[in-house]
Amino acid sequence: MKIALASDHAGYELKKSILNYLSERRVQCEDFGCGPDEKVDYVDYAEKSIEQICIGEYERAILVCGTGIGMAIVANKYKGIRATPCTDEYSAEMSRKHNDSNCLTLGARILPQDEALGIVKVWLETEFEGGRHQGRLDKILRIEKKNYKS
Ligand code: RB5
Repeated sequence: MKIALASDHAGYELKKSILNYLSERRVQCEDFGCGPDEKVDYVDYAEKSIEQICIGEYERAILVCGTGIGMAIVANKYKGIRATPCTDEYSAEMSRKHNDSNCLTLGARILPQDEALGIVKVWLETEFEGGRHQGRLDKILRIEKKNYKS
């Protein structure tokens, strides 16, 4: 599994810890920014990393901002992306089992580093259950195909 990582300035330090955590465990990952000492818009970094999934280069993303909310809003604009802001291990587990989350978003201003890494661990290790949950994801795909003009 290849993971695209990204953050804004608020998430930079936690993203680095996650990058170390993944590298130590030989999980293939790449950091799509931002860099240190930058002040950036989370929108641009969610866009950069999620488009890597859309073009088939990466399978999942982990995005970090202050709350995890802005990153999730942007990521969920893309077809096929199921971005889930998680603040605890139970949510992370269920986001995989029931929602087949392919993008974990984390809030660096909410979560201590050890809790965030615990969430990452659970999110990586938990499989999608399929079955009735697949039917629900199919309904989401159907909604994504609707094309309302503004
Ligand atoms: C940046 O100050 C902050 O707004 C951003 O990191 C994020 O929390 C937005 O959702």
